[in-house]
Amino acid sequence: LEALFVPQRLAGRKVLMTAGPTFEPIDAVRGITNISSGKMGYALARACRDAGAEVTLVSGPTGLPCPEDVQRLDVGTAQEMYDAVLRHAGSADIFIGVAAVADYRVRNRAEHKLKKGDSVPVIELEENPDILATVASLPAAPFCVGFAAESRNLLEYADAKRRRKKVPLLVANLVQKAMGRDTNEVLLLDDAGSHALPEMDKQALAARLVEELAARLPPA
Ligand code: CTP
Ligand code: CA
Repeated sequence: LEALFVPQRLAGRKVLMTAGPTFEPIDAVRGITNISSGKMGYALARACRDAGAEVTLVSGPTGLPCPEDVQRLDVGTAQEMYDAVLRHAGSADIFIGVAAVADYRVRNRAEHKLKKGDSVPVIELEENPDILATVASLPAAPFCVGFAAESRNLLEYADAKRRRKKVPLLVANLVQKAMGRDTNEVLLLDDAGSHALPEMDKQALAARLVEELAARLPPA
């Protein structure tokens, strides 16, 4: 019932999103991952749905239930996330990258469980593709929103990130402000500069971010 009173700012729009961490296997039982609960991404998926959007959520392993009326595609690795996103990017009006994507994957992944006793294994890494930058550079790119979690130099790093990835809107926060919490405190960066939002509950912030993105959206 509550949804009836939410302004349908994204009615008729297709939103493609990523959320959660990715998992890059080292061997049959171990891997490299990022710390991410998926809470912010899932809150945003619900907020987009409540605003009338058709939402496709490409999610890494979070253990969270799939939000109602959201199409979820479960992935493990960054490459799987990339492949799923690129399959759907062509038909999306909006792309929001909330996932904490592992920047590197294991080049010398072992098929079976590594056993102690031999020499200490050396893990070789290679870079994963940048999903957000790739989508933002597509010829008919959807309106792209990025997230940036930094542990220091928030404005400087986030501004450089927004320019490098060529996204019109970037949501930046200090990891200390969000990780493992139900609240978040963010900076919004766009062509006009930066703007701080007060600390709020992640679901309230998600609704606010929908407003902010809808206000910047080119007309349908
Ligand atoms: N992102 C992505 N694909 C990647 C890495 C990041 O789509 N391989 C997206 C994230 O989902 C987020 C944004 O890019 O929306 C910023 O992610 P972040 O890790 O902060 O940026 P990086 O470019 O990886 O820079 P660094 O980790 O060095 O700060
Ligand atoms: Ca990164």
